[in-house]
Amino acid sequence: MLLQVDARKPDPEVLRPAAEALRDGAVVAFPTETVYGLGAVWDNDDAVREIFRVKGRPLDNPLIIHVASIKQMKTFYAEWDDVAEILIKTFCPGPFTLIMKRAEHVSSSVTAGLATVGVRLPDHPVTKTLIELTGKGIAAPSANLSGRPSPTTAEDAIEDLSGKVPWIIDAGNSVFGVESTIVSWVDGKLELLRPGGISAEEIRNVLTEHQIAIQLDDSSLDLETLETVPRAPGMKYRHYAPEAKVHILSGETNEAKLKRLSTLAGSGALGQRPAFYLSRALAKEAEWILQAQLENHYQLISFADDLHHQDAAAGLFRAFRAFDRLSVSDIWAEEQSLQHLGLAYMNRLRKASRENEGRT
Ligand code: TXA
Ligand code: MG
Repeated sequence: MLLQVDARKPDPEVLRPAAEALRDGAVVAFPTETVYGLGAVWDNDDAVREIFRVKGRPLDNPLIIHVASIKQMKTFYAEWDDVAEILIKTFCPGPFTLIMKRAEHVSSSVTAGLATVGVRLPDHPVTKTLIELTGKGIAAPSANLSGRPSPTTAEDAIEDLSGKVPWIIDAGNSVFGVESTIVSWVDGKLELLRPGGISAEEIRNVLTEHQIAIQLDDSSLDLETLETVPRAPGMKYRHYAPEAKVHILSGETNEAKLKRLSTLAGSGALGQRPAFYLSRALAKEAEWILQAQLENHYQLISFADDLHHQDAAAGLFRAFRAFDRLSVSDIWAEEQSLQHLGLAYMNRLRKASRENEGRT
């Protein structure tokens, strides 16, 4: 059932049935500022296993635990130090997940047997209230069925989970639209495992500001190694892919992208029912070409020409799902630079385009 709640000032009474269901061992879909999550109380093994079953998620892919305070966060880790303190104080609450050695009492169904655990303090009044009402940390992956794009609205969550969970909490659009940044701080090594709502630049700046001489290692994001040596276990699985075939419209400049588009259109290589995900500036230019070649037989969603690529990242999963509802055959999404949120955007886009390589 759907619980509609004010995103900024949630009424605890509206959320109470969901919190009670969680306490009784049920699985509930809820909003966060990144994407919607599918949660269960972290220390109820049967409830946690139900998450894996509902999602169709492989059991060796660990879950992150969502908490309502830094104090609660610390209870899940075996140790705490200055680096953890600075990262947490700077980025929490927010789209940031820190992986460290897990405290002894943290069960293996959440961590999939790993010696580490990921914990996140979401910056969303609804998530915070729900966790407080439940009285325990909530283990949760994104609320999509395994392999689908993450849900960024309650409608997306309903599309994947209707009839499979007792409650879906609706608080409108997720602001970031892309999952949290995952950083691992284990054995003196600081690694970026998944780019997300907090950029690598922001993390590096904080290290410099505090004169911490540790490098943020992002080599596991290398596209060549991504599929073969995944560091975040989930990275090795099929991910983010819509039904349509995803292509990257690449090019150093808008002119180069337009030229490529023109060539593809001219040779009929855009697909039967193509769709486009482009920045506004490029979309404006591209429409001339598209209308000339395809008349009205295409779909277009555009995003703001923003230096930090925030809009591109925020709308990508929503565009994937919108295009799938329109049964398009091919999605052409514009390449962005790897700066700021462009890294998270390109990471999701590349994975989605790889997933359906060779699919017909
Ligand atoms: O923004 C988010 O992080 C969202 C919202 C709901 O909070 N959650 C989310 O969870 O994206 P999920 O399960 O879809 O992605 C978490 C990723 C997975 O790739 C998982 O393999 C990885 O984190 N992960 C979890 N625990 C880990 C650990 N101890 N070591 C390495 N990777 C871990
Ligand atoms: Mg996920």
